[in-house]
Amino acid sequence: MINPDLSNKFKSQFPVISPSMLKCDFGNLHREIELLEMAEAPALHWDVMDGNFVPNLSYGALLIERIRPLTQMFFDAHLMISNPEKYIEDYINAGCDSITIHIEAAPNPKDLLEHLAQSGVLPGLAISPETSLNMIEPYLEYCGLVLVMSVEPGFGGQSFIKSSLQKIKQLKAMISDDTILSVDGGIGMETIAGTASAGANYFVVGSAIFNQTDYSTAVRELAQKARSESASFT
Ligand code: DX5
Ligand code: ZN
Repeated sequence: MINPDLSNKFKSQFPVISPSMLKCDFGNLHREIELLEMAEAPALHWDVMDGNFVPNLSYGALLIERIRPLTQMFFDAHLMISNPEKYIEDYINAGCDSITIHIEAAPNPKDLLEHLAQSGVLPGLAISPETSLNMIEPYLEYCGLVLVMSVEPGFGGQSFIKSSLQKIKQLKAMISDDTILSVDGGIGMETIAGTASAGANYFVVGSAIFNQTDYSTAVRELAQKARSESASFT
């Protein structure tokens, strides 16, 4: 059973802006986290890439584990890796609050999602742009978070894929109100409103924060834009 504290954590804070750490300055990681805390971003999104599931390599559990004591912020790990069952324990032990695996990497994720919930972690399932919602439908009841990729996973800075809006709308009608609906890829001032009105309530943002000099303004304006377009945030 999913820990209700975790699934309710963001209810009063929607829309959530979660900076994608793939786009941060790794030479100043501690400072970047301080700036994001000051910007009142409630969560950090950690993009884990293995050079196999996606054609890019980023960082792994060791880095997340070392950063964990530096902040109280919610740690949201997005595992773009093959065979997530081999590594999932490392990310649980690293102190992630939420762990999202890809349906394309784990086509029968029930056991893994249940294991995450039993470990006190919010279980998440991600779906790539080319994958049909039919693939994840049987597993939605085991998810605390569902992540719609609105770019091909692997790189920050890509353009938003417009057909994601329809997918978000359909998915919103399939999930319970307790399930977080996250969108990831190409989210910025031009695209966030559309995804909010389609039903997303958790927005992963890389370039549109880290390409700005003032993270606080970026986070605040993105949240305002999302809020202005969605009737469902209170
Ligand atoms: C892509 C990652 C995203 C990405 C977002 O595979 O999952 O989190 O870094 O970056 P932007 O917002 O620049 O698309
Ligand atoms: Zn991501």
